[in-house]
Order: sequence, then C-alpha cells, then structure tokens
Amino acid sequence: MVQISPTPKGIVIYGTGNVCQTAARIANARNWPIAAVANRSGEKIGKDFGGLSGCETLNGITIVDMAVTNFSALDADIAIIAISDHLGENFSHHRRLLESGLNTICIGSDSSYPAAVDKKTALKLDQIAKANGVTFTGCGLWDTYRLWTIKTLVGPCTALSNLYHRSVTDANKFGLEVIKLARIGEDPASFSNQSTGASEQKDSIYRVFVYQVAISLGLSIDKIDQRQEPVVLDTPVFCTALNREIEAGLCIGMRSVIDLKTKQGISIMAEIDLRLTSPGEGESMSWIVEGDPSVEMHLRGIDTGHATASSAVNRIPDVIAAVPGLVTTDQMSPMRLHL
Ligand SMILES: NC(=O)c1ccc[n+]([C@@H]2O[C@H](COP(=O)([O-])OP(=O)(O)OC[C@H]3O[C@@H](n4cnc5c(N)ncnc54)[C@H](OP(=O)(O)O)[C@@H]3O)[C@@H](O)[C@H]2O)c1
Repeated sequence: MVQISPTPKGIVIYGTGNVCQTAARIANARNWPIAAVANRSGEKIGKDFGGLSGCETLNGITIVDMAVTNFSALDADIAIIAISDHLGENFSHHRRLLESGLNTICIGSDSSYPAAVDKKTALKLDQIAKANGVTFTGCGLWDTYRLWTIKTLVGPCTALSNLYHRSVTDANKFGLEVIKLARIGEDPASFSNQSTGASEQKDSIYRVFVYQVAISLGLSIDKIDQRQEPVVLDTPVFCTALNREIEAGLCIGMRSVIDLKTKQGISIMAEIDLRLTSPGEGESMSWIVEGDPSVEMHLRGIDTGHATASSAVNRIPDVIAAVPGLVTTDQMSPMRLHL
C-alpha cells in the first residue's frame, strides 16, 4: 500500500549556517515552501538568502531577525532550527517556535533525546508542545545510522554482551559552530587536567545517542562514563570554515569516548571522532555486536553534511503527523525516502 505523507504548508528555517542552508535547498528542490528564514540580529538581516547560500533557487527570500519576527503570523506549520547543540542554549528558541504554533525539528544533538541531558527541560518541552498542539523532535546525530541500524542488527540476537560503535565525522562539512565545538586549532594541552589526564570539557554531545540507543533497546542505564580527547596529526590539515591550515601538533578535532553500562550487564562503548579528516580518508560509521549471533556493520562514504540536513527535512512529514508533545525519533518508524 502506498503511504500518503502530509507535506508542509510552510517551513521556517531558523539559523542560516551550513546545515540550514542545505536543509532549505533540499526542501526548496522538493517544492516544499520556505515561509521564512531567520537569523540572530547582525549583518545578515535584510540580506537575500539565495545570495548568502549561493543557491539561486532561494533568491528572493529575505533573512529576518529571529528576535522580532512574529512566527505565528506566517503561513507555516513547521520550523527547522540549527543554531546550537546545547539544550540550555536552545530552549528559549524552542519555546518561541512551539508557542507560535510551529512543529519544531532541532538539529542540535541534545534535542535527539532531551531527557538524557535534563529531565526537567524535556518535560517542559513536552508540556509546551502539547499545550500548543504541536510536536518537538530532535533529528541531529542521524538516527538512521546510529539508532535504526543497531536496532535492526540486534533483532535476531538471542543473547547480547557488548555493543561497540565507532564513527568519524568530517568537521569540514560544517560551519564555525562545529569548529568551536570540536576545538579545532587549539593546543591539545588545553584538553587535559595534567594530574589526572581527565577532560576539562563539558559532557560529550554524543552521550545523548548512546543513552537513546540503550533506552530504545529496552535496557536500563546503570552508569555512563565519558571523556573527550584531542586528535592530533603530524601533518597540517586544511580547515574550510577557518580558511587556513591547522599546523601539525595542534588539535584537528576531538574524540568522545563513552562507556555506558546497563543493569542487564550489557555495555555500549562508543568512540566518536568529530574532526578534520586526512585527504582520501572519508567519513565512516561502524557497529559491532557481541552476542548470539555476533555481527558487524561498517558504513563508508557517508556524507554527514548532507545527511544532517536531509534527515531533518525527510522527517518533516513524520513530525507533522506525530501526536503533540516531545516525540523522539525512536518513537517513530525509520526514516522514509521522500522524492
Ligand atoms: N547533531 C548533529 O548531527 C549536528 C550536525 C551538524 C551540526 N550540528 C549543530 O547544528 C548547529 C549549526 O551547524 P552549522 O554547521 O550550520 O553551523 P554554522 O554554519 O556555524 O551556523 C550557525 C548558525 O547559528 C547561528 N547562531 C550561532 N549562535 C547563535 C546564538 N547564540 N543565537 C542565535 N543564533 C546563533 C549563527 O548565526 P550567525 O550567522 O549570526 O553567527 C548561524 O546562523 C551547530 O550547533 C552544530 O553543532 C549538529
């Protein structure tokens, strides 16, 4: 049976960086209307979004100031927001969009599973969304590759001991926000507390998906250990967003190492690189299942720059169709192809 999906009446693009530009391009190519493009105040306001993004088909869309725009007056039913990974920084923006009657898709990693970050804020998001009859969903971190693949792989297992995840994401696919996040160009010594070797960084943005995987496999979390390490090369690598080479010996990105133990005795261990890659290296993602049966899956040739934005756009029909409230991607079906 052919599934009929709701199409958006109008999309608000909230943020004008790399991710939002790609998302707008994809939606526009599908003839899904862009109702507005908003940015924080500054020199981009009043500029043409087509000119900024170098995409002619987006010409004629003037960038508006997110702080003063009346989003509820727009002919729109959904917003895509990509301005920060952190729930605390995003929350006031989420509130505004939801209270304007917009279903909201956030790319920020914390939004993939807000309860892993802050249960109170997750509850508030759920309440605000329900009160306004709309849905909030986080679509960062690529649930297709990180969540649905492992759910599928463990399906035939009759016993499970450990799950291992490894991925390399090329920071050159993104803008300055990601460069800052991955601490590219910093002295690696700034990562460590010399006496303990422990990371001084805040929580890894990736702990959220490890938590989401555990919960959606029906496991109960016992504890999560995490650390973040600098990645360094002995040859210089070019950084597109900074438009300069990062000298050998400086940080080209970071590795998050996460070890989640469950009450069922099953461990999920993840090593996730967000960094500049060497020429020809490419992006990759692997899952290894130790169980009965044991199985491995290795994905090569991923384009995270495209997949981040396309995952958000392709989820639009699911989010519009979802019940009001906070609905995480594990509560939906795997993403579907939309052409
Ligand atoms: N979860 C994932 O899988 C995933 C993947 C990629 C990116 N991300 C996240 O998505 C976000 C966007 O990435 P990007 O590559 O598009 O970044 P980018 O090119 O640097 O663009 C960032 C955008 O956010 C705006 N912005 C930054 N700080 C803001 C603030 N405090 N208030 C309001 N607007 C603010 C910027 O405005 P200005 O232009 O005025 O500076 C710009 O429009 C980042 O936080 C990134 O970490 C998540």
